[in-house]
Amino acid sequence: MGIIFHEKEKQFHLFNSQLSYCMGVCPDGELGQLYFGRKINENQKITYTQTKGVRPLCCNLKEDENYTKELSMLEYPAFGNGDFRTPAYEIKQKNGSRVTNLIYKSHSIYNGKKPLNGLPASYTNTDDEATTLEILCVDEVAKVEVTLFYTVWEKYPVICRHASIKNAGDEEVVLTKALSLCLDLPDVEYNWMQFEGTWGRERYPVERSLSNGTTQIESMRGHSSANYNPFVIVKRKNTDEFMGEAIGLNFVYSGNFVAQSEADTYGKLRILMGINPRWFEWPLAKGESFETPEVIISYSNSGLNALSQSIHGFMNNNIVRGKYKNTPRPILLNNWEATEMDFDEEKILKIAKKGKEAGVELFVLDDGWFGKRNDDYAGLGDWFVNTKKLPEGVKGLAKKVNDLGLKFGIWIEPEMVNEDSDLYRAHPDWVLAAPDRVRSLGRHQMVLDFSKKEVVDNIFDQLYVVFADANISYIKWDMNRSITECYSQGAAAGVQGMVYHRYILGVYSLYERLIKAFPDILFESCASGGSRFDAGILYYAPQAWCSDDTDAHERIKIQYGTSYGYPLSMVGAHVSASPNLQTGRAIAIGDRANIACFGTFGYELDLNEISEADFVEVKEQIKFMKEYRELLQYGDLYRLESPFEKNISAWMVVSKDKSTALVAVYKNLKSPNEGIVRIRLKGLDPDAVYTVDEKKELYGDILMEGGIQVPDGDKEWFFADGDFTSRMYILKKNVTK
Ligand code: DGJ
Repeated sequence: MGIIFHEKEKQFHLFNSQLSYCMGVCPDGELGQLYFGRKINENQKITYTQTKGVRPLCCNLKEDENYTKELSMLEYPAFGNGDFRTPAYEIKQKNGSRVTNLIYKSHSIYNGKKPLNGLPASYTNTDDEATTLEILCVDEVAKVEVTLFYTVWEKYPVICRHASIKNAGDEEVVLTKALSLCLDLPDVEYNWMQFEGTWGRERYPVERSLSNGTTQIESMRGHSSANYNPFVIVKRKNTDEFMGEAIGLNFVYSGNFVAQSEADTYGKLRILMGINPRWFEWPLAKGESFETPEVIISYSNSGLNALSQSIHGFMNNNIVRGKYKNTPRPILLNNWEATEMDFDEEKILKIAKKGKEAGVELFVLDDGWFGKRNDDYAGLGDWFVNTKKLPEGVKGLAKKVNDLGLKFGIWIEPEMVNEDSDLYRAHPDWVLAAPDRVRSLGRHQMVLDFSKKEVVDNIFDQLYVVFADANISYIKWDMNRSITECYSQGAAAGVQGMVYHRYILGVYSLYERLIKAFPDILFESCASGGSRFDAGILYYAPQAWCSDDTDAHERIKIQYGTSYGYPLSMVGAHVSASPNLQTGRAIAIGDRANIACFGTFGYELDLNEISEADFVEVKEQIKFMKEYRELLQYGDLYRLESPFEKNISAWMVVSKDKSTALVAVYKNLKSPNEGIVRIRLKGLDPDAVYTVDEKKELYGDILMEGGIQVPDGDKEWFFADGDFTSRMYILKKNVTK
């Protein structure tokens, strides 16, 4: 790994053993992109990729007729001076001009990586893990300095980028766009993969080929959203799971975003990612700076699966922080689907007690324990216990749950307030609301104005009391509506364009303060299921509730799609009741567990309500999970058959030392007299013998080249198993053979 500056040619080469990222100073002094892809020799000076040549209608430099920005690949392109594609930033100047031109001034290279101010970001554990390049570019007229940051990592094919924009002049300027990166590629032979959905069906992968013009996904909801995830893949058309080139872009941010590709009519491709510029206006007074969030660029030349594995490893090691980093997660039991808000202490303890009997480690009390919270019309904002439900408070309940031998956690939704709450009655101006306009409700609640420090302080103080008073090991942080009428009451007109971003900074600051005050608490993020599932939130909450759709059949698709951009350790997945609350579909308890175990694992039902036979199975599932959770959460994941393509889907995890693997095969609909399917495995040691399910001994190579046969003398699966069934295979490498 390293960063080389070829002084004479003014070219930068960032590289590790897997990738190269090359840039150079263009004839007019702007920073241009030269090459991004598989590792090339770092001594190579690149001459051919800066396109030159006089063309009709292109705008040239007076000093160099041959050079035009329109044909160039640029690193952080401006608006207004000859590049007609979408710019990465825009600055409104005092005289009304928005034209800028950034010229390379200087650079520095150092080991390690600096933190971003108030923003989530990747970090180094030791300085030798990464090298950072800072490039200072200046617009001499607007007196604006832009620093572009690039970090290249030793272990992962990853480059992290962001930018910082400083007003170095005397007059105020206004940023109307400040994306995190531009990545120009020399051809358009790519497909675009996005991860989309709605509530209940988050992060379905959708692929389309790029044709000239722009392709864009975005969020303007104030959170990253279930509709479009801030993760995209740009891949070669023939790239599949195990071969071909692919580039991943994870935005380390949880608010409004845009991800765009623009194929131009000269056959080049521009990729852009950053904070959504819609209703973004950030004034910069003399000396002030704006720092964009970070984008993680990952690269693979051996398919999508390898790309995902790099992202998983990188996130587990360089995004997740705290006590639960690289640590198996507790098996939890959550009461939401069992009781919703209709509970008292006795009911809760009965559920928790049964959980303990089953082997669960953590009990989580969901929504409804605070204020006047008996339905979703009241209580949000009042973070003190409802003593009618819990006479001895959260502290008393936590103690009783602890006495059962379980850890205890609770649900909060700190960013929201109900009209019927003490907080709203005292501070009606603390919600986001545009003057003289209707205040839209979502789930009967309004969004607190987290752009105001006093609001965040109030919520911190309230939560601090609850967290400090009781023995709390886990917090589920929910967020159940999008932002509308985004306006900070009482704030000046000139700062209203800052509100969306300031809101998210407020969320991050509350997270940071709570994490600092309570470092032992495990945070799980949630937003009506998986509506804020992004690399930014992962920096604070090591796991995130994947979806409110807990139907195992649906979950295969949701978890499969999620796995492209996020590690299994992040995926909150539980076994819930059957028939399922969201779909009415009935699935056997073993099959429900076979999908939930590819995640953090837990239960979302009252175990007192299930049959004795199912309860026996639950105990076995928990034993199994305790034995294999490290592998299931941190092993290498291989997607084998997609649930979006076939009736049978499959994936597997393999331990880092290749000694153990778990293979799960899921079948949607049953038809009689089915054919036999071979699932070809991946990631095993080809020369080692594996024992499959304590029955068969097979070499790794035959398991990978020939596959496992499904069904294989398995009568039930063959005849009368019904729909939505699954099989799990355990592979163990023989010690000596
Ligand atoms: C939405 C979450 O996704 C659910 O799991 C549950 O916590 C409810 N909110 C509670 O209101």
